[in-house]
Amino acid sequence: MTEDFDVRLVEDVKSYTPDPAYRKNAWMPDYQKAYAEFMKNPEKFWEAQAKELDWIRPWDKVLEWNYPYAKWFTGAQLNITLNCLDRHANNSRRNKVALIWRGEEGRERIFTYQKLLSQVCRFANALKKIGVKKGDCVCIYMPLVPEQLIAMLACARIGAVHSVVFGGFGSAALNMRINDAGAKVIITADISIRRGKAIQLKAIVDEATVDAPTVEHVIVLRRREPLVDLQEIELDFHEMMAGMPDTCEPEVMDAEDPFFILYTSGSTGKPKGIVHTCAGYMVGTHYTSKNVFDIKENDTYWCTADPGWITGHSYIVYGPLAVGATVFISELTPDYPDAGSYWSLIEEQKITIFYTAPTAIRMFMKMGEEWPDKYNLSSLRIIGSVGEPLNPEAFEWYYRVIGKKRCPIVDTWWQTETGMIMITTVIGEPMHPGFAGKPLPGVIADVVDKEGKPVKPGTGGLLVVKSPWPSMLRTVYKDDERYRKYWYTIDGVYTVGDLAVKSRDGYIMILGRSDDIIIVAGHNIGTAEVESALVSHHAVAEAAVIGKPDEVKGNSIKAFVILRVGNKPGDRLRQDLLHHVRSTLGPIAMPHEIDFVDKLPKTRSGKIMRRVLKAKEMGMDPGDVSTLEE
Ligand code: WTA
Repeated sequence: MTEDFDVRLVEDVKSYTPDPAYRKNAWMPDYQKAYAEFMKNPEKFWEAQAKELDWIRPWDKVLEWNYPYAKWFTGAQLNITLNCLDRHANNSRRNKVALIWRGEEGRERIFTYQKLLSQVCRFANALKKIGVKKGDCVCIYMPLVPEQLIAMLACARIGAVHSVVFGGFGSAALNMRINDAGAKVIITADISIRRGKAIQLKAIVDEATVDAPTVEHVIVLRRREPLVDLQEIELDFHEMMAGMPDTCEPEVMDAEDPFFILYTSGSTGKPKGIVHTCAGYMVGTHYTSKNVFDIKENDTYWCTADPGWITGHSYIVYGPLAVGATVFISELTPDYPDAGSYWSLIEEQKITIFYTAPTAIRMFMKMGEEWPDKYNLSSLRIIGSVGEPLNPEAFEWYYRVIGKKRCPIVDTWWQTETGMIMITTVIGEPMHPGFAGKPLPGVIADVVDKEGKPVKPGTGGLLVVKSPWPSMLRTVYKDDERYRKYWYTIDGVYTVGDLAVKSRDGYIMILGRSDDIIIVAGHNIGTAEVESALVSHHAVAEAAVIGKPDEVKGNSIKAFVILRVGNKPGDRLRQDLLHHVRSTLGPIAMPHEIDFVDKLPKTRSGKIMRRVLKAKEMGMDPGDVSTLEE
């Protein structure tokens, strides 16, 4: 399992320790002590976390564990928006800024907690008026604007299950997600704006809803003059809100009622609808937002993800708002209008906590230190990373150039499935570049072999979680077999799908995926999804896709394509295939290279051996090829 990976330096790692003041003032000043307390009584630990929040009715039991099914805080009733909004708006944070949005050309919008609550209630009432009820699925396909968050929170207010689809997905990907979840309503916008250009979002929705029988309404945020025409089932976002009351009784949710579905790539062509429930998710994201980012009253917190990903759900919307933070969001890309855009925003907004992805950090490294050096970044207190391994070179750069050797880096490991951060280096603890850190108090994780036995320090293995945690996925929507697979791949534990190494002092280094998922610029792409998009093109007979290491994006996609008889390979067809993948799956899934081939390596049972393709591409030994066809 380890031969593919370079597990160098595991015992010879650098270590950085932040100024002791960080530890002294942190919400979690003593990691070892907190972890020991958790281990002494896990349920008591999580109960204490839950008690920091408001509940309509308290729980009868903290955990009912019936392997592989968990129920958390059973008997409790709640509504997460009471904690994200009312709790602050009705108290001392009434006039505190909840949300600051920055668009291109200096446009800015600011919402206090009071204003955000009013807007959410008005939109919630508008949804109710068109017949959206508790348990109905609402698909949100929007750009990064305040209305995207308002739409999510309004669904939460009335107990509708949202399925947010990242605005960069193409029409086929969107259609599949709408139909799988049976969405009743779609909320979208006419356009999203990227690098000064308008992207016609609604046109993609139009295409995606041609064959979407469950959709009753499409709500459109019209951002641009002249306003786009609306068809019969289409409604204007702001017109719907006009005249609606600005209070809305929160729907009483049971602890284990479904909260949202979020699709993630799997090893088949069909994405998995990860199902999260109400109480556990709220407790997990509140606990981690507070303790990992150490959010304090005066912080201005910026997570550069999009709410369309789990990072945005947990660490833009629900976690930070539950803590009562001031959340900054921006539709700007890191390279537009120039390579200083993010640093200028940090200076302008006096951002104190900044959370981004390794792919962005590596892009910044490439663009040069002169860009961040032009701006005053001294407001920064804590900087974070998520989505793929933060390699030591990127860590060093981030630490020195952005954090000025002063800010602790929280490299946070987690997944759509885990709902919350699971492994990181808690503020104040020594940081080891390349290692995400240790399991958070509340989490028991380890690196094991295929039989589930812990591997020796310095040896590669499979990352697993050994006990249930509140914000864990409860099932895969309409496919519980796929849920069970997480817990039955190795008996008794949750198999993550990542390869990892542990150091002697318990720090975990994540090496990458162990399955057919490629992480490209932090986005999970299933090889099978790209292959089926390629095969859906009329000229393609067969396709195989592999990930190739890429200096900035972590990985890039290379496709091998066998054409149907009568089609000629060439640049035109290559462009046509790229366009096809782009419009079906979206730009994030576009291959970087396409090779036309006559044959693909297959097992005798007909399965494509991507491992062999990859080894050949990289000039490596393909390993065991005894099952190869010829
Ligand atoms: C990878 C994103 C290394 C990992 C929150 C995981 C990471 C997958 C890290 C989940 C990290 C995420 N270091 N790898 N700090 N964070 N990953 O569902 O392979 O989009 O399994 O959730 O991203 O991706 P997802």
